[in-house]
Amino acid sequence: MARRRKGLGDRRVRHDHAYRRAKAEGKVARAVYKLEEIDRSFRLLRPGRRVLDLGCWPGSWLAYAAERVGPDGLVVGVDLRAVEIPLPPHVHTAVSDVTTLDPTALVERFGAFDLVASDMAPHTSGDRGTDQHRSEALAFAALRLALAVLRPGGHFVVKVFQGPRFSALLGDVRRAFSEARAVVPPSTRAASREQYLVGRGRRARLPDDLAPA
Ligand SMILES: C[S@@+](CC[C@H](N)C(=O)[O-])C[C@H]1O[C@@H](n2cnc3c(N)ncnc32)[C@H](O)[C@@H]1O
Repeated sequence: MARRRKGLGDRRVRHDHAYRRAKAEGKVARAVYKLEEIDRSFRLLRPGRRVLDLGCWPGSWLAYAAERVGPDGLVVGVDLRAVEIPLPPHVHTAVSDVTTLDPTALVERFGAFDLVASDMAPHTSGDRGTDQHRSEALAFAALRLALAVLRPGGHFVVKVFQGPRFSALLGDVRRAFSEARAVVPPSTRAASREQYLVGRGRRARLPDDLAPA
């Protein structure tokens, strides 16, 4: 009999090492280890940096980024849901749909960002094709917004469930940043199909089709 891949309905998959570690260390969500691992590999965060966190609820990336950038930095988080955990004063959060955000208003209020990080995920429908399509649409929206609010030289991280538009997305990240990589952080669940694309160093001159309007 063919062995079934274990899904998130399986408690052993949901409650794996990263989950138990996050619980033991009092972290808001296990997702924090993925950002930490990516940050360690690509050196994205340092004191004084300005970070835009897309899909920030419940707030583990916000808390991590706030600590790394320190009080001289800035962290702005946006999600469809309100963040409820206590965070330091250099963190600002807003309830909003990222796909409708006005980049000009963001830059006018906060200035250009050094890092845009998106951990956005759609509500899972149970249909793999639909979920991939929605995840890729969110990743493209995150890239569009990032290219409009990042300073030249700034960095980008985006989560995506790999589907048919994955190569096009990676191609766009390659054209917009001087270094582009697809990574699966070690703390990702074995059953997960998610990857993160990392773009380092936003090019000062973007290709016409990627340049903000
Ligand atoms: C995996 S969670 C993020 C976890 C977060 N990085 C953390 O460490 O706590 C994905 C989030 O994406 C948000 N999201 C999905 N679509 C969105 C959209 N269009 N605009 C804003 N947030 C969105 C969801 O509400 C959800 O809270």
